[in-house]
Amino acid sequence: MTASSSSRVAWLSGGDTQCPVLPPLPSRLFRLVLLGAPGVGKGTQAELLCERLGTCHLSTGDIFRAAKNPGQAKCSPALDAALGYMKRGELVPDQTVLDLVRERTGCIRCRGGFLLDGFPRTVAQAESFARILDQEHLQLDGVLNYDLAIDKVVARLGGRRTCPGCKAVFHVTSRPPRQEGICDHCGKSLLQREDDRPEAVRVRMEVYEKSTRPLTEFYRKRGLLVTIEAEGTPEEIYQRTLTALGSIGSGKSRKRLSSSAIGR
Ligand code: AP5
Repeated sequence: MTASSSSRVAWLSGGDTQCPVLPPLPSRLFRLVLLGAPGVGKGTQAELLCERLGTCHLSTGDIFRAAKNPGQAKCSPALDAALGYMKRGELVPDQTVLDLVRERTGCIRCRGGFLLDGFPRTVAQAESFARILDQEHLQLDGVLNYDLAIDKVVARLGGRRTCPGCKAVFHVTSRPPRQEGICDHCGKSLLQREDDRPEAVRVRMEVYEKSTRPLTEFYRKRGLLVTIEAEGTPEEIYQRTLTALGSIGSGKSRKRLSSSAIGR
């Protein structure tokens, strides 16, 4: 299990799989998208937010990685092909991703809300996702856009270690596990992701600039974007995120949330 309150098995496995335990009804339900460059810390913030809000962390990257582990997801030919794109740092074709998300619409409807991480990632995906939400009579509450200079993002990726079992994320210096190389949550040995190799990281950053950054404009125009400065410790960024959620809740105008904005 991750630090999150749900096993996310319905999301990770797809098909007819149901989560054994439904998330508790949150005091305030959030349906959010997390945006930002690869390695900016979206997954780390999602873990912290899930602990607090009880919301599910729905990561498309985790679906693909789960497909590599027997028993965690059914590895269809499309998922098998997706793993090749991922390894090189390229985006998986929109159609594959959209099929996976449509198959998991139950997770989008979940009574606990959702934190989507890694989806949508192109304007075409965002347009299709808007149609899915319309069909389900659901609305996004906000899009949290984490922003950090690319050289700092690359340093975060270089030290990342992940748990193959529960998907928890650590960093060798900024977020080390209690015991070196071992997951705090489930005790499995931590691994370095294949796409964190320098050549794949370079491709991922280029792809981000070309295909994903335009999404900030897409969501700004719809009044959903909140940009959060991702400099500082995970806890500091988490506090900024909570402030951002407060502004979403009160309907205050959306702005960039930086360390100065919360009086650090
Ligand atoms: P995905 O799994 O979504 O990866 P990503 O977007 O590249 O994001 P990451 O998981 O790498 O980074 P993160 O922002 O979550 O950072 P983290 O919290 O781990 O996608 C992988 C691949 O799948 C894609 O390249 C693509 O091929 C495919 N894919 C997925 N979705 C797709 C889609 N919709 N369409 C097409 N293809 C798709 O943090 C990074 C490190 O920094 C960690 O070690 C962490 O401990 C550390 N850290 C975090 N915060 C801080 C901090 N404040 N200070 C210091 N260190 C920190």
